[in-house]
Amino acid sequence: MQKLAIQGGTPLHGEVRISGAKNAALPIMCAGLLTADTLQLSNVPELHDVSTMRKLLEQMGVKACVRGGEMALYGGQVDKPEAPYDMVKTMRASVLVLGPLVARFGEARVSLPGGCAIGSRPVDLHIKGLQAMGATISIEHGYIHAQAKRLKGARIFFDIVSVTGTENLIMAAALADGVTVLENAAREPEVVDLAHCLRAMGAKISGDGTDTITVTGVDELHGAAHRIMPDRIESGTFLVTAAATGGSITLTDTRADILETVLEKLGEAGAKISASGDRIHLEMNGRPKSVNVRTAPYPAFPTDMQAQFMALNCIANGSAMVVETIFENRFMHVQELRRLGAQIEVEGNTSVVRGVDHLEGAAVMATDLRASACLVIAGLVAQGETVIDRIYHLDRGYEHIEAKLSQLGANIRRLK
Ligand code: EPZ
Repeated sequence: MQKLAIQGGTPLHGEVRISGAKNAALPIMCAGLLTADTLQLSNVPELHDVSTMRKLLEQMGVKACVRGGEMALYGGQVDKPEAPYDMVKTMRASVLVLGPLVARFGEARVSLPGGCAIGSRPVDLHIKGLQAMGATISIEHGYIHAQAKRLKGARIFFDIVSVTGTENLIMAAALADGVTVLENAAREPEVVDLAHCLRAMGAKISGDGTDTITVTGVDELHGAAHRIMPDRIESGTFLVTAAATGGSITLTDTRADILETVLEKLGEAGAKISASGDRIHLEMNGRPKSVNVRTAPYPAFPTDMQAQFMALNCIANGSAMVVETIFENRFMHVQELRRLGAQIEVEGNTSVVRGVDHLEGAAVMATDLRASACLVIAGLVAQGETVIDRIYHLDRGYEHIEAKLSQLGANIRRLK
């Protein structure tokens, strides 16, 4: 297992280019299954999850050509509408092939994702939506087996807001017969980016970005070119890192309009923030103030930024409440932060963080993607050396993170 060694205590200063959004790239790659033409993507982040998704599509028969941040996906020779367990178990987002496969090929066999560190994460809403569209679905030997001569438009109400559930059903509805209305749909910007891409392919979608999305099915979709939107969580992570270390940072190739709650919270913590065009600048003088956060579906505070703000609150002035309403077990980073000297009490889905004036470096272990980012932030502010184990979690979602942090002045190195 690879580790990261971090010498903390240095304020970070400098400029970072933000990569394409992982959680937009993954569903948009699956949209390549919806056409027999070529889908030309740009600004695709070079991440472990993206190469996992590419391999999953290739074993179905998709031809993928990758050059740097460019990826061409040719869906004209797909001959195996299956997603095997050994690939799905490493990446839950693999379930995003389900909707496109049933919509285009009338059949799919996709392994159930199983749980993951942050919660059970069922896919019942994905399945219920496809059944509402006329798919016959059976669960056998850990696989979802879905069949449909042709999906039919339906009105689907999500009991819980689900990002990939919404994305799966938009893609399924794009080739269905008739009109589908998704109610209580996810409003995340990554859903909007997927809709932009699908419209470029000829899909008829409206209401994306709101909680009611209408899709009028068409007979086929053609190829298109699409540039992946910037990663708002990577952006937020670097902003919190600069704030926690008492430094300053300029992000380029990013967007401020999709980070409003995060920017507002950083302002509350005492950061000076300015944004123009595709750049965001942050300065933090002195110690941050504690800020309460409560996660909820977009446009509220994102659950994927909860762990990072927990790290900020560990060394902030005051006490803060961190409430996690999306996942039932997304406080694994608390135990690790305590090893660095953090004062955190957990009661159900609420953590109370009492700011301490400094953390002490120690050996810690990453448990999931965003928890790893939290430990990197904590290591950068702690006095002495912090060694983070199991950093493969980090590589899933942050492109070239050591290089980006090093150019900001961080003392960080990967231990083979
Ligand atoms: C997406 O996961 C993101 N992943 C997650 O980011 C993110 O944390 C999450 O949305 C919430 O914003 C991708 O986009 C690839 P959900 P997703 O379906 O779609 C429950 C990261 O760090 N639920 O919106 O899997 C579920 O258990 C990752 O990049 C059901 O009960 O999340 C959860 O409690 C981590 N039944 C809640 O809904 C279902 O069928 C929200 O989950 C589906 C979901």
